[in-house]
Amino acid sequence: MAGHPAIHFMSSLAVANLRAAFPALQESGDRKPFIYFDGPGGTQMAQQAIDGMLAYITGGMANLHGAFPTSVGTDNLLLEGRKAVADLLHCAPEEVAFGQNMTTLAFSIARSLGSFLSAEDEVVVTEMDHRANVDPWVTLANDKGAQVRFLELDPNTYTLNLDKLDELITEKTRLVAIGMSSNVTGTVTDVRRVIARAKEVNAIVVLDAVHAVPHLSFDFKELGSDILLCSAYKFFGPHIGIAVIATSLFEKLQVYKLAPAPQQIPDKLETGTQNHEAIAGLIGAITFMEQLGEGKNRRERLVSGMQRIEAHEQQLTARLDSFLRQVPGLKLYRAAESVYKTPTFAFTIPGIKAREVTSWFAENYHMCIADGHFYASTMAEKLGVNPMGGWVRIGLAPYNTMEEVALFEQGLKEFMKTKGKY
Ligand SMILES: Cc1ncc(COP(=O)(O)O)c(C=O)c1O
Repeated sequence: MAGHPAIHFMSSLAVANLRAAFPALQESGDRKPFIYFDGPGGTQMAQQAIDGMLAYITGGMANLHGAFPTSVGTDNLLLEGRKAVADLLHCAPEEVAFGQNMTTLAFSIARSLGSFLSAEDEVVVTEMDHRANVDPWVTLANDKGAQVRFLELDPNTYTLNLDKLDELITEKTRLVAIGMSSNVTGTVTDVRRVIARAKEVNAIVVLDAVHAVPHLSFDFKELGSDILLCSAYKFFGPHIGIAVIATSLFEKLQVYKLAPAPQQIPDKLETGTQNHEAIAGLIGAITFMEQLGEGKNRRERLVSGMQRIEAHEQQLTARLDSFLRQVPGLKLYRAAESVYKTPTFAFTIPGIKAREVTSWFAENYHMCIADGHFYASTMAEKLGVNPMGGWVRIGLAPYNTMEEVALFEQGLKEFMKTKGKY
């Protein structure tokens, strides 16, 4: 995680080149592309990912472990997929397992942690997280009769209250599940502090990096969490989930699996046949990110590519942040300047349902903007946004431009005027 904008801002030429890699952004015939502000829900797919999927499908598909070329090729594809993720997140290739999506992987990991937990133990989750990083661990705790404790969201600062970590995470804590950054407010949590405390009491740390991996560079080894979960459809690839599990823990996991299926890591977590074409697409998505950067090897190019993404997004963020903070009649759910944030903004307009805003933008400005609680439902309840249909969420991706942000601002002023609010 870089934690601050890098020096290499992307020039408008570089952003134009980057946009060229996304077929969904191109005009063709009478098709006018949308302006996509729904990155946190899922980004558009890079050409390199599409090419990877097509090459696998058209080149002859196969199942694993056969003597014939397409099967050997598929074995190699999985190996290559693990190596590509290992370079992206800085872990060992055998620590990388694939699955349907983050949620499904979290549930199967939770099920395989049964023997780690007893009724005297405690599990810590947060009030800010997407429920995919809450409910699998709460279900596990309930199955074992263990206690669940919540790391509280401060409703005024939109950050987690880390001051009480020592009281919350104790000798009884066996597992701590924490999000790297909120998929609603963009708040990036100082997970290092949480990991350090969890490690003092030997608790397992699960990091939900689904919303962070598209925006920040990662170093799994250096962070020291035991499990990291993310999803490729949030970073320019196809719909496939990724789990990174530290070898020492992964080897001990008692997964629910078929008796004759492989016992070794990482295969033992990958029940049934994987989505090979999605793994081919994931490699392509990582290639796209790598090609944005510079360096001697893939890891270096990925770190540099991610820093460029981050720097570009933070430029757009600075503009949108100062605009949204001064729109009268709009409530912005955004942490203070001193807190690092992803380019994800959530707001409400009192008296107006979130869906009315997003439908208006889709109709009048051809913009894809999402609304709802985004499965961060504990936070939605605590902040009282459910009666308004949740938040309106603008999520920026590296293919968004200053012009698009300016157009959104124009649209929002127009919308507010139609409501007599601007
Ligand atoms: C922060 C966060 N965690 C978890 C998930 C769940 O990911 P998946 O759809 O891969 O199960 C999402 C999806 O939006 C998310 O934003």
